Amino acid sequence: MSIEKLHVALADHAYDIVIGSGLLSKAQEWVPEKIRRGRIFILTDENAGRHYAASLQAAFPQASILTLPHGEQNKSYQGLERVLDWLLDGRADRRSLLIALGGGVIGDLGGLAAALVLRGIPYVQIPTTLLAQVDSSVGGKTAIDTRQGKNLVGAFYQPVAVIADLDTLTTLPDRERRAGYAEIVKYAFIRDRQFFSWLQENGDKVLKCDPAALTQAVKTSCAHKAEIVAADEKEQNDLRALLNFGHTFGHALEKLLDYDGRLLHGEAVAIGMMLAFDLSVRLGLCPESDRHLALNHLRRMGLKTSIDQVPALADCVTDNILQAMLNDKKAEGGVSAFIVCCGIGQARVYKDISAEVVRTVIQSGRKAAA
Ligand code: NAD
Ligand code: GLY
Repeated sequence: MSIEKLHVALADHAYDIVIGSGLLSKAQEWVPEKIRRGRIFILTDENAGRHYAASLQAAFPQASILTLPHGEQNKSYQGLERVLDWLLDGRADRRSLLIALGGGVIGDLGGLAAALVLRGIPYVQIPTTLLAQVDSSVGGKTAIDTRQGKNLVGAFYQPVAVIADLDTLTTLPDRERRAGYAEIVKYAFIRDRQFFSWLQENGDKVLKCDPAALTQAVKTSCAHKAEIVAADEKEQNDLRALLNFGHTFGHALEKLLDYDGRLLHGEAVAIGMMLAFDLSVRLGLCPESDRHLALNHLRRMGLKTSIDQVPALADCVTDNILQAMLNDKKAEGGVSAFIVCCGIGQARVYKDISAEVVRTVIQSGRKAAA
């Protein structure tokens, strides 16, 4: 299989995304030479580490490795402290390199630690989940969660390279693959109707890790992300914000379940996107037929599409969901600004949405969307 390369064209810190098969054991090839001569620190979790740390160590035999337990709980003050202590105890200096080998949790945590230690050392993302390969490893958003909400302490800090080895996805549990798929179809919903048609045809193959379909899906997703990030790195205009489609709702649902694995991030995003579609239809911005197409596709891909399909949320009242949304950092002036879909392939930020319509959307999301 050929190796695909995309470029994230940022003025001060441009980098490449490398996508292909068998990349881990030669990962040093894509790390700038002056960086790979310093101390190397590989941060991973027990699952990614068990399967892939040894192959990566073939590329960086001198590296020191920290293996964390798996799970969102790592994205915490305690998790961050542990990583910073490991780097400082290991005498990291400004020429050291941190490699984040794992899913979005390890990538977000490792990226933030790299941004903070010694006021910033270089880092490389080696994403091993579908979600991380198509979204979180690209674009430099790094963060931990706090008791107030998700990703509330973080930094924009770009990696020096992203190396997406598609082989790593073969060991990913089916549920995690589906959750990652939600972030793929998000690009189609917000900016690429043709990609949506392609996913309708090929989504099953992507989930089965068919090499050609997987390459195409990861490449198309990363190309969208790279273009958006290059144009609006720090979410200062409304372009990068579009990537948060479904996330204000989704983050609130995740928070209510304490990020404990009962609802994965991508699963929450899939439900959140359907709530955002419902909102868009109610505002008269999106044809009902497109909401239906989106719903059918997500269902066919095995994703939950409404709040009432999550047993753990059964007793959760609408006001709790609204309250959790207030702390989302995308909520400007209460929960009045949302990303809406104006028909599959087009999205925009819509301001001044009344709390009442949001409440109605949540209430109807608590009955299975038809
Ligand atoms: P994750 O990192 O928790 O990984 C999911 C599970 O898969 C974990 O149990 C992990 O141990 C396991 N795993 C990882 N790679 C594996 C492999 N190859 N084989 C078998 N098991 C493997 O979760 P995720 O879905 O990758 O990422 C979710 C996180 O990403 C959330 O914290 C979310 O907020 C964040 N995120 C960040 C951005 C961003 O722009 N920075 C974007 C989207 C999501
Ligand atoms: N995942 C949202 C962003 O990177 O902006």
